[in-house]
Amino acid sequence: MRDKDRGFRLLELLADGEMHSGETLGNALGVTRAAVWKLVRQLREQGVPVHADRRHGYHLPTPVELLHKSAVETHMDRLTRSRVSEVRVEFSVDSTNARLLAEAGTADHPIALLAEQQTAGRGRRGRPWQSPFGGNLYLSLLWPMDQVPGGLSGLSLVVGMAVVDALSNLGIPDLALKWPNDVVWRQRKLAGILVEMHGQPDGLCAVVPGIGLNVHVPEGGTIDQPWVDLAGVHPGALPSRSRIAAGLIDAIASNLAQFATSGFEPFAAAWFRYDALADAQVRVEVDGRDPVSGTARGVDTDGALLLERAGAVERWTIGEVSVRRES
Ligand code: BTN
Repeated sequence: MRDKDRGFRLLELLADGEMHSGETLGNALGVTRAAVWKLVRQLREQGVPVHADRRHGYHLPTPVELLHKSAVETHMDRLTRSRVSEVRVEFSVDSTNARLLAEAGTADHPIALLAEQQTAGRGRRGRPWQSPFGGNLYLSLLWPMDQVPGGLSGLSLVVGMAVVDALSNLGIPDLALKWPNDVVWRQRKLAGILVEMHGQPDGLCAVVPGIGLNVHVPEGGTIDQPWVDLAGVHPGALPSRSRIAAGLIDAIASNLAQFATSGFEPFAAAWFRYDALADAQVRVEVDGRDPVSGTARGVDTDGALLLERAGAVERWTIGEVSVRRES
């Protein structure tokens, strides 16, 4: 077993939050107690708060529920399993999007990648996405596509609609999308989506949508806007993160498959059900330009934001614009 795998295995042994002696852990991993200590130090360096007690051993301050590839696969529906034939779960990666993009030129089938933490999580508009270990979801899919009718412009909205569908299926009310695809609960951000692409937008390409879902946001982080996590909005006990991930993969795969053959048009008519900004006064910001204010009027047939100002309706295209409610 490689050190990296041993570290993950050690984490699985500690996940119950109970005290485990160095000797028991060493026996389970087939290493010495000194080697266990080294692995513990590595986990700590990666942000996992392993507590050490000289006499009794090691434990986590609270139990953690880790992702399991087999559980994700079991909870995916049959159609999704036939479409997404490869599911990977990693402990730590730089960015699940970056990892899949690196394979986008060669992969010929959809892949789902989940990680327990990201060391260089990427957000929209070049911002970082804080990705600590401790219970959120960091998920990317790689999806090869060929000549989508109408082009790719509505793609990130379609992914957002899928995420809202999957979370609504968990019984969470009041979810909506702030154009293009911030998943909000009562105007507070619950999930962020970054869609990246490899290849030609009007030809053979692979898209990589990445979803960062707040499940249990650990205390002490700094998020620069109002946010919520699933633990705070879900009625009752949360399903396992593996199950939540499977629901996300099902919904995203279903929307991507439809988008790949029919484009955004079939989704356009449903947008109003997801729209957090309908008829609201909004401000549109484009990097390097003065913000513009107007009234949000839904989206065009290709997913562009419709903004009414001075009696005319303008189209704002995806990828360059951020929208915020005026205070
Ligand atoms: C946003 O800024 O709202 C988008 C955030 C997207 C974060 C996710 S986490 C999984 C995937 N990997 C990344 O590096 N980013 C996306």
